[in-house]
Amino acid sequence: MAILPIRVYPDPVLRAPAQPVTVIDSALRQLAADMVETMQDARGVGLAAPQVGVGQRIVIVDFAPDEDGDPRVLINPVIIKRSGKKVLGEEGCLSFPGLRTRIKRSPKVVVEAQNLDGEIVEYAAEGLSARAVQHELDHLDGMLFVDKAGPSDRQSLMPELEELEHNYEELHQV
Ligand code: CO
Repeated sequence: MAILPIRVYPDPVLRAPAQPVTVIDSALRQLAADMVETMQDARGVGLAAPQVGVGQRIVIVDFAPDEDGDPRVLINPVIIKRSGKKVLGEEGCLSFPGLRTRIKRSPKVVVEAQNLDGEIVEYAAEGLSARAVQHELDHLDGMLFVDKAGPSDRQSLMPELEELEHNYEELHQV
């Protein structure tokens, strides 16, 4: 097990659509275990493979964040049902340290995915876990939560986004 470095906005890997997982092998199981450890170490509720620099459709979501935690590995996940009127709630992202904003999400979702044994499984999620499922699946399409903020929230995020962009340039000498 290892804690993986988390890619921070505006790292281009966060914008690249991830590819479907075709082979579930020991390397993928290792990646999943490392992603769980990385998410827990960072006290996150979810983590998507592009956030650790891997362009594959795999995410970790904690389905019991308010209790002891129940991290699940979702491979090639698809939301098959959304219900309820979308609700505005505060959200953060491990790839945007320190930044939080309000995003509208469905309050309940059902997600279908493969597990590490290649079996098709379904998970029903609500509240924070439902929000995390939607947030993490967006990552697989190169979509970031700040893209979905309302116009005024987006406007007020600009200084923080510019600071992250500035830090990234300094670090990577873009
Ligand atoms: Co995120």
